[in-house]
Amino acid sequence: MKAILLREKGAIGNVLVEEIPKPLPQPNEVLVKVYAAGVNPVDWKAAVYGYFELPHIVGTDIAGVIEAVGREVVDFKPGDEIIGSIEWTKQGAFTEYVATKTQYITRKPNNVNWVEAAAIPLAALTAWQALFDHGHIQPGQKVVIQAAAGGVGLFAVQFAKWKGAYVVGTASEVNDAFVKSFGADEVVDYHTTKLTDRVMGADMVLDSIATPEVQEECFEALKNGGHYVSITAGPREELQKGYDIHATRFLFVSHQAQLQQIVGLIEQGIVKVHVDKTFPLAEAKDALEYVHKGRTRGKVVLTVV
Ligand SMILES: NC(=O)c1ccc[n+]([C@@H]2O[C@H](COP(=O)([O-])OP(=O)(O)OC[C@H]3O[C@@H](n4cnc5c(N)ncnc54)[C@H](OP(=O)(O)O)[C@@H]3O)[C@@H](O)[C@H]2O)c1
Repeated sequence: MKAILLREKGAIGNVLVEEIPKPLPQPNEVLVKVYAAGVNPVDWKAAVYGYFELPHIVGTDIAGVIEAVGREVVDFKPGDEIIGSIEWTKQGAFTEYVATKTQYITRKPNNVNWVEAAAIPLAALTAWQALFDHGHIQPGQKVVIQAAAGGVGLFAVQFAKWKGAYVVGTASEVNDAFVKSFGADEVVDYHTTKLTDRVMGADMVLDSIATPEVQEECFEALKNGGHYVSITAGPREELQKGYDIHATRFLFVSHQAQLQQIVGLIEQGIVKVHVDKTFPLAEAKDALEYVHKGRTRGKVVLTVV
């Protein structure tokens, strides 16, 4: 089967298209025929910085059909349509077949296509965990979402609105109407406007930019006792001095029950999936280069079938 392999870190150009044997599922695993694979910034970062053991098959997000199940598997059967973020330290999504434990997958929403389905897991789970597990947002609160037009940001805007928050997103002017169409109450153009000129007393900020300048603006925009949640650089102690806030950074976890809740919101039409661009599996390198530019609206997805 075809797979996108990384044998050497250092550059996005190091990803290779290779033929490798189809995996055999362990007794506690299922074999998934992959129809589409979602691309996330961590995938190009892994190629450049070498986060994971080499060699590995790049990628974590899959949507596909279960072809076979190990003898210990009781919760899924052949033919089930699934999505998931597979064990992320192992990677392995950008390929035609994946063997995975079932704790990382759940059934595909019935109202989206394969490409949209593959766009969901990692970005949506990160947004969910940032807002609810770490940001503890409540109805009526003011929530700021940095990079609101991106993969994580667009899900976060919708989850925060669903929870009943007042949502401010940051985005380029060209994405103002786009982000508002997903429910943001306000959009701040970060190229021309300081966040704190528009927002003070926020209850929570989700920061996926987290440069020192952006982090300081986020701290200033928060009320006393507010929650700062970074998904990139951790809160810098020297910048945090003088602010009475909770500040944290976390790494997403592939959480089946949370993904099931997200699937439910998508099936109810409360949350929409936006795919910016698709690439065939063999052009994964181009997809990674595209995501690396940092201008993605929603998600980028590889088509496998
Ligand atoms: N900790 C974790 O577990 C975890 C999980 C997922 C992602 N992440 C990280 O979080 C970051 C975001 O991920 P993602 O998937 O959402 O990325 P993405 O989809 O590639 O984000 C692209 C978006 O970023 C926006 N953007 C770029 N620079 C900006 C700035 N200075 N201010 C505001 N918006 C800006 C762009 O909007 P405009 O075109 O409107 O400027 C674009 O829409 C990545 O670094 C990723 O590695 C971490």
